Amino acid sequence: MAILNHLTTTCWKSFQGDRLNKQLLYALRALHKSAASEALGISATGEEAMPDTLMAPADVGEKTKVKSLKEMPGPSTLSNLIEFFWRDGFSRIHEIQMEHRKKYGKIFKSRFGPQLVVSVADRDLVAQVLRAESAAPQRANMESWKEYRDLRGRSTGLISAEGEDWLKMRSVLRQLIMRPRDVAFFSDDVNKVVDDLIKRVACLRIQQPDGVTVLNVNDLFFKYAMEAVAAILYECRLGCLESEIPQDTQDYITALNLMFSSFKTTMYAGAIPKWLRPILPKPWEEFCHSWDGLFRFSLTHVDKRFADIKAQLQRGEEVKGGLLTHMLITKEMNLEEIYANVTEMLLAGVDTTSFTLSWASYLLARHPHVQQQIYTEVTRTLGPGTVATADDVPRLPLIRGLVKETLSRLFPVLPGNGRITQDDLVVGEYFIPKGTQLALCHYATSLEEESFADSLDFRPSRWIRKDSTDRVDNFGSIPFGYGVRSCIGRRIAELEMHLALTRLIQKFHISTSPLTADVKSKTHGLLCPAAPIHLQFIDREN
Ligand code: HEM
Repeated sequence: MAILNHLTTTCWKSFQGDRLNKQLLYALRALHKSAASEALGISATGEEAMPDTLMAPADVGEKTKVKSLKEMPGPSTLSNLIEFFWRDGFSRIHEIQMEHRKKYGKIFKSRFGPQLVVSVADRDLVAQVLRAESAAPQRANMESWKEYRDLRGRSTGLISAEGEDWLKMRSVLRQLIMRPRDVAFFSDDVNKVVDDLIKRVACLRIQQPDGVTVLNVNDLFFKYAMEAVAAILYECRLGCLESEIPQDTQDYITALNLMFSSFKTTMYAGAIPKWLRPILPKPWEEFCHSWDGLFRFSLTHVDKRFADIKAQLQRGEEVKGGLLTHMLITKEMNLEEIYANVTEMLLAGVDTTSFTLSWASYLLARHPHVQQQIYTEVTRTLGPGTVATADDVPRLPLIRGLVKETLSRLFPVLPGNGRITQDDLVVGEYFIPKGTQLALCHYATSLEEESFADSLDFRPSRWIRKDSTDRVDNFGSIPFGYGVRSCIGRRIAELEMHLALTRLIQKFHISTSPLTADVKSKTHGLLCPAAPIHLQFIDREN
């Protein structure tokens, strides 16, 4: 019993020291060799991978039962097709997670055409998967991203790279932006963008008849997030928060929107086999077109900074700068790798942050008493009118709690994440062969009562630590992922959100607008508002 209980709660690898388990592991491996060799896109063979004889081997006993994928519950292919293509399940992925967990349990399988996906919708099982990761985990099949890059002679960046290439780039970037103290360096730059955000709120309000409403706050936060992340990545200002947005920035926004608005199309770009492209060319063409726009923008800004640095060096001047300057000078990555990484980081860092800011403001408006508590904390800690910096954030636990409660629990902007298993694995009571696509259901786990009491309540204070040993985090809420492949931009995103929310709360009482009713979420790649959020920003008297 101990062996199997263990097997179901910890990773394969940690058992390699245990002789008995080792034998069992090798026995399973041998029996699954064919499945294991099938790497990506587990086929029906993957489901069959566990011969029935292994289910209840008499000599191992009842307690060592490991089931095969074949025995795993889940919706039928037909009901999946109806759910996703007929009932627009793509925009309800978060709700489907909840429904399926209720119906099939903590782990279930679904089939999308030839692709089998095993969904893991339980905190402890998610932990089990992520703790078993290799040195270079794989998130999903990135073939279409790689194909585009090969076609244009471009490099992969952190999101699209795998194996050695990924490890090399990750080890460079990890040292530059993974720790809070690394990104504290950008505090002043981000605060300048926050200045512009506040001015923009004022400018937008006066355009409305009541003089206090900002329509569709996500548009505002999108521009803030893009301006802030570009200030860090490109070391320059783009003018997103100006009334007249410069044309090249506008072109970039168009390319970014194309990438997201055609989310389904870009998914199909990867899913549609190459031989079908002459008949159905649009998805692939749009996919390439939007990447062209995203890369073009990065090339322009990186090349400009490169030219400035060269000119400074030629004049014998000392070169000072931030992230990009460091990358260009140290040459730990070549120029193509730098292009690819800033392109992918900009792509990853705008909508994620802006949707979170939209949801956080919406929650503040709907819970004025919570907003008042946070306002009191901010004014007491900082004093009136003081601009917070990264160094102040640890003293603002409710601001941090606000971001966590929004992002880690009620509106995890990435409602799910993926992993392709790189080794045979036992999760729960199931044998999962190497190469299986897993979907980690963060939306479902973030609302689990056993992880978070009164899980539907908005309570930023639940995240306040009583002392340094009191850790509230758990695998029920990992909005930035976990482990070596977790979000590299986490600290940047947190800095942008903490500084913006602190200042907004200092300046304005954020209130609901009669124009906005209850806003539901929908999935469009990310968890976004299903309707525009309009909010009132009323000046505070201070
Ligand atoms: C609220 C904001 C954000 C959220 C919730 C978020 C969430 C995530 C998640 C869940 C992952 C996958 C992690 C995993 O597989 O374990 C990820 C990966 C990534 N994120 Fe973020 N992210 C945010 C902002 C940013 C920003 C601002 C940047 C860049 C400046 C960024 C850059 C990346 C990159 C490059 C990866 C791929 C990392 C790798 O594969 O090594 N993200 N993010």
